[in-house]
This record gives sequence, structure tokens and C-alpha cells, in this order.
Amino acid sequence: MHGSDRGGERAASPPAKAAPGAVVVERITHHDVPEICSLYRRVWEPPHSPPLPAELVKSWQPAALEFTSRMEGVTYFAARRDGKLLGVIGCEVAHGNCHLVDLAVDPEARRQRVASALVASALEWAHHANAVEVWADTLAQFSAAAALFKHLGFAECGVLHKHEWNEDVRLFERML
Ligand SMILES: CC(C)(COP(=O)(O)OP(=O)(O)OC[C@H]1O[C@@H](n2cnc3c(N)ncnc32)[C@H](O)[C@@H]1OP(=O)(O)O)[C@@H](O)C(=O)NCCC(=O)NCCS
Repeated sequence: MHGSDRGGERAASPPAKAAPGAVVVERITHHDVPEICSLYRRVWEPPHSPPLPAELVKSWQPAALEFTSRMEGVTYFAARRDGKLLGVIGCEVAHGNCHLVDLAVDPEARRQRVASALVASALEWAHHANAVEVWADTLAQFSAAAALFKHLGFAECGVLHKHEWNEDVRLFERML
């Protein structure tokens, strides 16, 4: 089982008491779901989001019930600073690889290494889950995501043309 709550257990073990202002990444619980859904709504709405196919926006702004059902197959981590939610990432482990999904950082918290901290936790989780490769896909138009993955040592390994609602998708991978 790699659902995210396991009776409320937190898998990533932060310091007993985080220093003020430090970014802390923890596995999410069901209590976090409303706040996480609200973050996804903010991230994928104007003025922060570019115009995107409505079908994509709908799936990237899940309602609480829908997100809860995703947690059955995906392990999510949240980054917080002084208790405030800054970003989220999901890890879907299957067939010896880990697919990074639903990565988003609060527009007000970008370029502060929040996504880097989330990906680092995801890599650690994938390693413990015996994955040997981690991969991510992102719309070709999302230059920040591509820059992030390259910065974190991922190699670009392909493009799927008109793959998601007519949008090109770039693929990135990193061996563990
Ligand atoms: C992509 C995203 C997750 C990056 O989050 P972030 O917390 O700002 O990223 P980090 O601060 O960890 O960035 C680390 C490095 O990645 C690169 N990078 C990140 N964002 C970048 C940008 N907008 N432009 C250029 N390089 C960027 C830089 O090398 C950066 O290091 P630096 O700030 O020292 O130059 C964030 O912009 C976001 O949520 N975008 C909208 C949602 C999205 O695209 N999700 C990804 C779908 S796969």
C-alpha cells in the first residue's frame, strides 16, 4: 500500500521542532486535503495560470472527494513554512519507477527552493519504495517546470505530441 494516510502516519520525519522560517516537507494526511485543493485552485487560475484547456484545469483543480480518492494510489508530500502550505507533490510508484504528479508551488513562494525540497522528498520516498527511476511529464509550454527538472539533474527524454487535450508534453527522467 502506498496511499497517503496510513492511519495518519507521517513518513518523512522532520526535525522534532523546525527552525522558524524553515521549509518542512511532510507526508500529507486527510486533514490537509481542503487546504491542498485550495492551493491547486489558486495555482491553476488567472492571473497565475496561463490559458489552458478546460479539461486540464478541471483535473488539476480536484474537489476534496476526488483528491481523497487519488490518495489511494499516490503518496503526497506537502511543504510548509511556519505552518503555511507552500507546495505539494505526488509520487506514484509502479513497475519499479516513480512518476511525479500534481507538483505545484504557491505563486507567492516560488524561486525559494520549495519545489526542490518537495522533489528531494519524493526521490527519497521512491528510493525507499525500491524504484530505480523517477520520471515526470509537463506541458511543453511550462518552462519553469522544465528548468526545475533540468536543475535537479533530470534528463529530458522525449516529447509526446498533442498528448493531453492537444497540448505537447515533455518527459524528464532521473535514475536513482
Ligand atoms: C515549476 C514550479 C513547481 C517550480 O517551483 P519553485 O519552488 O519555484 O522551484 P525552485 O525554487 O525549487 O527552483 C529550483 C531551480 O529550478 C529552476 N527554476 C524554477 N523556476 C524557474 C523559472 N520560473 N524560470 C527559470 N528557472 C526556474 C531554477 O534553476 C531554480 O533555481 P534558482 O531559483 O536558484 O535559479 C512552480 O513554478 C509551479 O508551481 N509552477 C506551476 C505549476 C507547474 O508548472 N507544475 C509542474 C507541473 S509538472
